Amino acid sequence: MKKMAIALLGFAGIVSFSAQAQMKPEDAIKLRQSAMKLIGYNFGSIGAMVNDKKPYNKDEAIRNASRVDALSTQPFEFFIAGTDKGETKAKAEIWKDSDKFKAAAEKMQGEVAKLAQVARTGDMAALKAQVGTTGSACKACHDDFREK
Ligand code: HEC
Repeated sequence: MKKMAIALLGFAGIVSFSAQAQMKPEDAIKLRQSAMKLIGYNFGSIGAMVNDKKPYNKDEAIRNASRVDALSTQPFEFFIAGTDKGETKAKAEIWKDSDKFKAAAEKMQGEVAKLAQVARTGDMAALKAQVGTTGSACKACHDDFREK
């Protein structure tokens, strides 16, 4: 009986952890901002390399681009209900026009997948071009959905 109760408690713990609806809004906001910061850090590193602000290192560029790609869906798990207010630059439009927001996220996700592919080729000119295209996809969403 005791074992059973412990098993049930463990299960309840897992369920409440995975239910993001129960996450505190301020925690969700911090998590999405942290994910965006990591994306920004890794993307910025590649940007600096293709713009001669930092020595080009193929392995590092591959690592940065793979991380941006891997993290690209993460912030969007945390735009949950109740996170339109507080310490956030997210605009209310995110929840009013969620289809457009989702499309902007998917556009960026497609571009960062390409970025990761291009980084592996070691073709600097192609990498620079793809950094530009990706940056535009970031900016398009920030322009529409993020406070200045
Ligand atoms: C679909 C929309 C969307 C796309 C695409 C997007 N962002 Fe963001 N980004 C946001 C929103 C909204 C915020 C504000 C989040 C908040 O304050 O809660 C943000 C915040 C940020 C921040 C600031 C984080 C902080 O709080 O310090 C950085 C850095 C960032 N984004 C980088 C990027 C980069 C780099 C890309 C492209 C690879 C990108 N973003 C693509 C919507 C987007």
